[in-house]
Amino acid sequence: MPEALIRFENVTKRFRGTAVLDGLTFDVMKGEVLCVVGPSGTGKSVTLKHLVRLLTPTSGRVFFDGTDVTSCDGRTLQRIRGRIGYLFQGGALLAWMTVAENVALPLEECTDLPDAEIERRVAKALEDVELSAAADKYPAEISGGMQKRAGLARAIVRESDVVLYDEPTSGLDPVTSVTINRLIRKLNHELGITSVVVTHDLQGALTIADRILLLKGGRCVECSTPENFVKSESRDVREFLAAMKGETI
Ligand SMILES: Nc1ncnc2c1ncn2[C@@H]1O[C@H](COP(=O)(O)OP(=O)(O)OP(=O)(O)O)[C@@H](O)[C@H]1O
Ligand SMILES: [Mg+2]
Repeated sequence: MPEALIRFENVTKRFRGTAVLDGLTFDVMKGEVLCVVGPSGTGKSVTLKHLVRLLTPTSGRVFFDGTDVTSCDGRTLQRIRGRIGYLFQGGALLAWMTVAENVALPLEECTDLPDAEIERRVAKALEDVELSAAADKYPAEISGGMQKRAGLARAIVRESDVVLYDEPTSGLDPVTSVTINRLIRKLNHELGITSVVVTHDLQGALTIADRILLLKGGRCVECSTPENFVKSESRDVREFLAAMKGETI
């Protein structure tokens, strides 16, 4: 049996009385790529934030490698956060820093590594995302796709074993999206990174996911391999697939 690295157990999250997550339960296995899909506003970003305790559940629990993230002490939380890279929706690069400086930030702020080691890791992360040539450029000087890749490098630079991607391909052209999706899969294959990818890019999800989770009404309504996902008889999945087709026609 593969081991679950992440577990959401009956998580409910209310904002001012309205439940965004409503008894959400799912697992992410060690080494897997799980894509989370669902309409805008269904709580996909909210779900990711619970994993690093940027949000806490109203009820239910979130486990990371057997530790309850919702109630652990600050030191344990820091250790868990150190194992998780996060590509935020929107990228969030600092405009006044070069690409290399942006990528170095998590190491400068959260570790005591010597400068030489920081330089080595930044160079390696930039190489992994094929962005070495842009190390000394500023965000405004590179394309949107390159900015996404810089965000990706920053998410993996701590050599974390899990990366959370919040819409890594949104706003990109199809060719660049394919490149980013390949990169996510490559990082998973070559470095064994467990990945949770929130995406609106169904085609991308079908190519990179080990399993696809459909979030609806604050619950997991389907979680299955791409092959089974497209064949699913579930009304929710059929509706979702039809809506996606409608969008692309
Ligand atoms: N900190 C917050 N306070 C209050 N409401 C919030 C907060 N964060 C999110 N919400 C609400 O929770 C709901 C889900 O938001 P979320 O950002 O998770 O959606 P999403 O599925 O990621 O959508 P999208 O695909 O557009 O990114 C929205 O209605 C949002 O307004
Ligand atoms: Mg979102």
